[in-house]
Amino acid sequence: MTTEYRITVEPLGRDVMCREDQTILDACLRAGVWVPHSCTHGTCATCKAEVLEGDVDHGEASSFALMDFERDEGKTLLCVCKPRSDVTIEADVDADDAIEVYPVEDYAGTVVGLEEVALDTRRLLIELDRDLTFNAGQYMALAVPGHDGVTRTYSMANIPTEPRVLEFQIRRTKDGLATDGWIFKDLAVGDPIKLSGPYGRFVLRVDRDEPSVLIAGGTGLAPIASMIRHALENDLEEIGHLTLYQGARTREWMYDVERFRALEADYPDRFTYRPCLSEEEAEGFASGMVTDVLNADHENLKGYIGYVCGPPGMVEAALKTLMLKRLFPRDIYKEEFLDASAAASVVRSPLIKR
Ligand SMILES: Cc1cc2nc3c(=O)[nH]c(=O)nc-3n(C[C@H](O)[C@H](O)[C@H](O)COP(=O)(O)OP(=O)(O)OC[C@H]3O[C@@H](n4cnc5c(N)ncnc54)[C@H](O)[C@@H]3O)c2cc1C
Ligand code: FES
Repeated sequence: MTTEYRITVEPLGRDVMCREDQTILDACLRAGVWVPHSCTHGTCATCKAEVLEGDVDHGEASSFALMDFERDEGKTLLCVCKPRSDVTIEADVDADDAIEVYPVEDYAGTVVGLEEVALDTRRLLIELDRDLTFNAGQYMALAVPGHDGVTRTYSMANIPTEPRVLEFQIRRTKDGLATDGWIFKDLAVGDPIKLSGPYGRFVLRVDRDEPSVLIAGGTGLAPIASMIRHALENDLEEIGHLTLYQGARTREWMYDVERFRALEADYPDRFTYRPCLSEEEAEGFASGMVTDVLNADHENLKGYIGYVCGPPGMVEAALKTLMLKRLFPRDIYKEEFLDASAAASVVRSPLIKR
């Protein structure tokens, strides 16, 4: 029989039960107790918390995300640590009214679409066994078949009012277990998929009415597409003007251009689209990295908010640009698509916590 332990989450004073083979983050999110998290794989440090009482197994915490001296001080990463006794933790659970807390649940899905949309980039459509409620920008964990307990995280590109068929946009990673070894290899329409969610706090800020710049690199477009479509198509009039900077090296890496041009035509007062190519000149596309184009477009961004999503290097560059343009960290929301290689190499921006 699997042993269960009681986890007390301070400062909320909430108790949740957690199996010895379950992470504390998982137990909290399934019980509807929201604690901060991002990568869910021990690499980003967003879920760092203090163990006030009890024993935990720190699991596969990256030594960059949880340094040895922090372990000695009683810190842990909730997304990978498992209880070894009843435990009391103190987490950074600041109330955030823009995020509805939807408990994490398991879903069964079936692949109903799989298409190549750009070089090494696939759109995957999964029909769920029941509706999913989520915030625009959140992500799911997909179980990798044949590898017990191994999951990979992908952001929804569909909108909350499309709750049954989820759209994912997935970039191939060379030698990657889930991408090269499954999604780009033998995954096919009709295959069953196990997934859980929703996770994450990179969401459309329905509490903010400032104009925003949204910067997407590669498949970092997925959660941003969900946010933009949700704001426009679901008539969230309180959301300010949205400008999307979509970056790719060349046209063969760029996707969904027509989709965003159509949105721009439908909502000219609410949405501006700036597709940017860094290694090719082409009509209808700005030339340069997204950060160069943003730099040229705006003398400063005072009064704006920023959303950034993509590979860690691109996110870091975009954060620097936004801060040089006078945005404060509290006005910038970001998601880094950290993968397993990041566990060994991630260098965190000291300026942004989210
Ligand atoms: C919150 C979040 C949302 C995301 N959303 C998306 C999305 O919408 N679309 C998308 O395309 N991606 C997304 N990602 C990235 C995605 O989750 C995967 O990381 C990516 O698809 C790679 O998975 P993989 O199994 O193919 O590669 P992995 O097997 O995880 O390998 C990734 C790389 O790491 C190397 N590697 C493996 N193990 C180690 C090790 N121990 N040390 C050093 N290097 C190692 C591999 O050689 C490879 O180059 C997201 C990530 C996060 C954190
Ligand atoms: S969510 Fe735990 S380290 Fe990223």
